[in-house]
Amino acid sequence: MSESLAICEGSKAEKYATLYPQIKCVVEEESDAIANMANVASMIHETFGFWWTGFYRVIDNQLVLGPFQGPLACTRIKKGRGVCGTAWQEEQTQVVPDVDQFPGHIACSSASRSEIVVPIIQNGEVVGVLDIDSADLATFDDTDKEWLEKIVKLIEI
Ligand code: SME
Repeated sequence: MSESLAICEGSKAEKYATLYPQIKCVVEEESDAIANMANVASMIHETFGFWWTGFYRVIDNQLVLGPFQGPLACTRIKKGRGVCGTAWQEEQTQVVPDVDQFPGHIACSSASRSEIVVPIIQNGEVVGVLDIDSADLATFDDTDKEWLEKIVKLIEI
């Protein structure tokens, strides 16, 4: 690995390392789930300048759109459908370097090129997902996965 690449990777991890305690502080001050999801979406979105950052919650066996930052998005997603429904079904974070290569990807916006979806698991069940879209290819990697999985553990929805 070249030195410059290592520095780049460090800066992404550093941003998360700074962001994490800020999110923890904000979330600990407030008990309302919608308020917390709204602020967490905003904080992640503003820190990294992603295309779309938001939450879907499991309601009546569907993912229903929650607080988000970015353009209009589809409101309901079935289990197993798209990247979000796959994260729900498999109970695993989905890192998608090129959304055009993901079978069944739901294109809420043609500008989205890569995506990460992190399931939010409470008492052994998926209760929602955090979905982030980037306008660039291959934006997300294990650093995002690791930190975003930590971040969603802070939110009770
Ligand atoms: N692309 C997602 C749908 C949600 S939007 O990206 C906000 C998917 O395939 O599940």
